Amino acid sequence: MIGTALTLASTTAPAQNQAILEGERFNPEVGTQGMVATSHFLASQVARDVLAEGGNAVDAAVTAGFALAVTQPRSGNIGGGGFMLISDEQSDEVVAIDYREKAPAAAYETMFQDESGEAVSELSRYTHNATGVPGTVAGLAKALEDYGTLSLAEALAPAIKLAEEGFPLPQRFVDGIADAGEMFAPWEASRAKFYKADGSSYAVGEIYRQPDLAATLKRIADQGAREFYEGETAELIAAEMDKHGGLMTLEDLANYQPSVREPSHGTYRGYDVYAMSPPSSGGVHIVEILNILEGDDIGAMGFNSASTIHLMAEAMKRAYADRSEYLGDTDFIEVPLAGLTSKAYADELRAGISDDTATPSAEIAPANPLPYESNETTHFSIADANGLAVSNTYTINFSYGSGIVVDGAGFLLNNEMDDFSAKPGVPNAYGLIGGEANKIEPNKRMLSSMTPTIVKKDGRNFLITGSPGGSRIITTTLQVLMNVIDHNMNIQAAVSVPRIHHQWLPDEIRVEQGISPDTVDLLEAMGHTVSQQEAMGAAQSIMIEDGVFTGGADPRRSTSSAMGL
Ligand code: DON
Repeated sequence: MIGTALTLASTTAPAQNQAILEGERFNPEVGTQGMVATSHFLASQVARDVLAEGGNAVDAAVTAGFALAVTQPRSGNIGGGGFMLISDEQSDEVVAIDYREKAPAAAYETMFQDESGEAVSELSRYTHNATGVPGTVAGLAKALEDYGTLSLAEALAPAIKLAEEGFPLPQRFVDGIADAGEMFAPWEASRAKFYKADGSSYAVGEIYRQPDLAATLKRIADQGAREFYEGETAELIAAEMDKHGGLMTLEDLANYQPSVREPSHGTYRGYDVYAMSPPSSGGVHIVEILNILEGDDIGAMGFNSASTIHLMAEAMKRAYADRSEYLGDTDFIEVPLAGLTSKAYADELRAGISDDTATPSAEIAPANPLPYESNETTHFSIADANGLAVSNTYTINFSYGSGIVVDGAGFLLNNEMDDFSAKPGVPNAYGLIGGEANKIEPNKRMLSSMTPTIVKKDGRNFLITGSPGGSRIITTTLQVLMNVIDHNMNIQAAVSVPRIHHQWLPDEIRVEQGISPDTVDLLEAMGHTVSQQEAMGAAQSIMIEDGVFTGGADPRRSTSSAMGL
């Protein structure tokens, strides 16, 4: 039996043919003129409409970004920030728009420590000071201005309609509010947004309207993106801060600008991999891990076999150890980018990996881990028929960010300040360790793991992917790439199959359900600790081959949706 399965796997047709073959367990959405994949069907629908009406991938992406701020407020946002990679085949250009939040000018290194110098995570998560200066509105507007064809008002129109007229609530929305528990209790505007006037909860299928948010989006549509930073919306944010002792000022908002950056670049088995550069660690470390893995024939070693998982975990550990030491905002610190992404450095790291024995994380570098937390961010991928592709991940950090809705403006404030290291060596809520490189400084961007990624093959856009998942973003995105390139999966299979994760500390391989107990035994015999936990990531992805677009919506989100045309 096992022999037969292996033979079948190794003689499978190339990935480009798989989508239309019977015999697949997972089938992607197929299109010939373009594809959108987002975490909410209403956002996918409005983005697809834009493509169908002749808009390009950036028009569709910005439209989706604003629509998600309405339909999926736990992560879709205008009060947060993120990164957008845009690949234009025609000019052979891949650019990254960095609209990550920034620390306010009055922020200081010890702001999340108590008098005895201990880091207090409640301060960096559930207070007004948890909020970095939001970048989403400026970033989406910048993308549209530089690469889109729609006006900002046109891109905002579907979001305004959804906020004003409302939409029937899916189960996931209702469950999300229930899971948020007491998070909104201290804040009147938050309670008003997420509960009915009598304080009761919304039910599945009820129409949900957001009049304050609609008014905010309309002001931005009428007056432009600077309205958010200098107009009435900015004043509402500043008033919210003043009222609750937050450090962010009108001046911080007025000073916010997105940055256009060169993405991290590497190659993997002949493919060109572009992903987000600092202030995200995602691109650097996905390239570093791929460089280490390239030295072995992962395809022959087999999908999620013990030897493959062992090698992946060893590569991941080393990359996350480097992350803790070297990564931060390159506007403030030097990051050895060329070294970390070089093949020679990967060769050195690979030489230290044993074929059959785990290296304890403590021998890679010492520290003191915390457990994982639940969380939410959102990624979407969009491609059009003219060679433009967009990979976008944005967030307010945790589900519902700080839990604080700006009074009168109807949107949630992020708690991205928790992505700084509150104290060197003390892990943040994702268990990620940071040091000097990621300490809090005025106007600095906090280190991210978000990894919007575009893989090109012979100069053509091939794979567009990325994921939420905090520290698991890098490894989730990595596995979508490996599943396609090493394991020949179609895009839906690549997104759906079980994932693993190692982040150096804690020293354990975290696995989803679906890794065989026999494999776990083999890994444990090599010295690994293996811990099965809940699902990881939501990698809304697209693959393009021979003019055919295939979309993989991640089943880990019940509202995920890929729509082709
Ligand atoms: O930028 C980061 O790496 C985190 N703030 C992302 C948070 C996240 O992905 C939460 N999601 N699932």
